[in-house]
Amino acid sequence: MEQSIDQVGAAALREIEAALTPEAVHEANTKYLGRKGLMTQLLRGVAQLPAQERPAAGRHANQVKQRIEAACQEALDRLEAAAASRVERIDVSLPGRKFGSGSLHPLTQITHRICDILTRMGFEVVEGPEVESDYYNFEALNIPKNHPARDMQDTFYVSEDIVLRTHTSPTQPRVMEKRTPPVRIIAPGKVYRCDSDITHTPMFHQVEGLLVDKNISFGDLKGTLTAFVHQMFDPLTRLRFRPSFFPFTEPSAEVDILCVICRGKGCRVCKQSGWLEILGSGMVHPAVLENVGYDASQVSGFAFGMGVERIAMLKYGIDDIRKNFENDIRYLNQF
Ligand code: PHE
Repeated sequence: MEQSIDQVGAAALREIEAALTPEAVHEANTKYLGRKGLMTQLLRGVAQLPAQERPAAGRHANQVKQRIEAACQEALDRLEAAAASRVERIDVSLPGRKFGSGSLHPLTQITHRICDILTRMGFEVVEGPEVESDYYNFEALNIPKNHPARDMQDTFYVSEDIVLRTHTSPTQPRVMEKRTPPVRIIAPGKVYRCDSDITHTPMFHQVEGLLVDKNISFGDLKGTLTAFVHQMFDPLTRLRFRPSFFPFTEPSAEVDILCVICRGKGCRVCKQSGWLEILGSGMVHPAVLENVGYDASQVSGFAFGMGVERIAMLKYGIDDIRKNFENDIRYLNQF
């Protein structure tokens, strides 16, 4: 009897000693001292012993039981103290964990770059509303109601006279109305057209440019845009001015750059033409100047409008415009 009490007691102490969690301690406690516990059964067995053996065996069994109880309490105290000190244990010599820092969206970066180059040339940044009146979006720009040029733009109408602006050009009459020449502004912002495929999204970005002063010629337009392209891409980028049409400029030109992918040989990106269109431009139409109260015989000007997505895609070699708006972190992290 004494022997088995010692054996069970020793096993209990070993288990409690080895416990790594308070739960394990409680488990051991139940296993030995619970209602059906091994130690409890032995204590019951003492009652069955002959009368003369009972007192000594009972005393011994109770001592072992108390030792197990004390061991449980010690183990719990020890585990609690260890948990508490773990919280405090900060190794100040470890290198810090890096915070994932955000960065600007590629289109924002390109817009900033465009505006940087042009403000350094003396253009001032202004902004206009995205919800625009029919007047500024069309009429003031020499695009009267029912003019076929309105077919060029798939317009989102808010009401009969209110639209989501289809281009940043309405900033031209808005600014000219309020100022007298010289006027030298650029206007970045969102524009909207009802159009959606691999190269079109219903919302995209443009940067408008406008310069009006005495004696402004097409040569000024060419010089300004050539300097811009050389800074935006690289100083060897070739560009060409291709005759075009816009109701608010005359003459009008679209500017192409030699394909940055194939350098003019012809590829998928430039649709085998060797050239990539990057902006529309022209000399401000006299009717537009007259609409804002300027004297078209005294002042002249040029204007241009470029697509930010288009320039970003050419600069970074992106083939699907929609990637810009999917917020896929694997895409955005590359810029
Ligand atoms: N607004 C024209 C467009 O969106 C671009 C443009 C701007 C053309 C200024 C000429 C002058 O296509």
